[in-house]
Amino acid sequence: MRASPGCFITFEGSEGSGKSTQIRRLAVRLRRNGHRVRVTREPGGTPIGRKIRHLLQFSRAGRAMAAETELLLFGADRAQHTRETIGPALARGEVVISDRYADSTTAYQGAGRRLGRGFVECLNRFATAGLKPRLTFVLDLDPEEGLRRARKKTRRTDRMEAQRAAFYRAVRAGFQRLARTEARRVKRVDARAGVEEVAARVWALLPAKLQKPAPHRERGARRKRRLDFLENTPRMKRRSPTLERRT
Ligand SMILES: Nc1ncnc2c1ncn2[C@@H]1O[C@H](COP(=O)(O)OP(=O)(O)O)[C@@H](O)[C@H]1O
Ligand SMILES: [Mg+2]
Repeated sequence: MRASPGCFITFEGSEGSGKSTQIRRLAVRLRRNGHRVRVTREPGGTPIGRKIRHLLQFSRAGRAMAAETELLLFGADRAQHTRETIGPALARGEVVISDRYADSTTAYQGAGRRLGRGFVECLNRFATAGLKPRLTFVLDLDPEEGLRRARKKTRRTDRMEAQRAAFYRAVRAGFQRLARTEARRVKRVDARAGVEEVAARVWALLPAKLQKPAPHRERGARRKRRLDFLENTPRMKRRSPTLERRT
């Protein structure tokens, strides 16, 4: 996939590690800075993906799913997500933040289910058309603690959450390995800290161009010019018919 003007950021980590929480906060802060932000997730970032998500997570049919089928369904979801949602948003210059992406498959299906690293990598490349995030945050947390946090939120346990502890340890190790082998892109963030502290660490790791206000936010800039104009215009004059006709 071609290089594009936007910026692609992903959050990874086990269930309950704080991905959704951090993504919400980051999106708010970036938007306040004038950046156009698109928040999305896997599985389920497209209409097709939402059907796949249901199959993968809560459908009764999913209970009998083979590991290979699971891998391909995540791949199918990602192929659609990359082409229908992420690629076009990046081409428009948006900041795209995805809750999980290809690294989840490396960790869950590769390390967790031991489906063969070579094939998983190959499938990831195929599904993503070679698109890689500019930056990936791995929120690293003891999986037991993550599940405790997640269960406080909802009682419903999905198919992936019902796995054994050994599976989750392997997944965590898979994410940690990525942070070592792709250290430039993948940043491990200790997720035991409080929400504010994790958010501050995430912010500090962002590319400088995102930490600064967006340089060419047309609409915002125009609105600011109009407000300046109104503030500098005496009240009576502002109501005058001449001025109204002109606007
Ligand atoms: N740093 C944190 N410390 C304590 N609790 C947290 C923290 N971050 C998130 N939580 C809580 O843990 C639960 C799971 O967080 P969430 O963001 O949904 O995780 P994920 O999206 O990774 O599954 C939520 O109830 C959330 O409020
Ligand atoms: Mg979440």
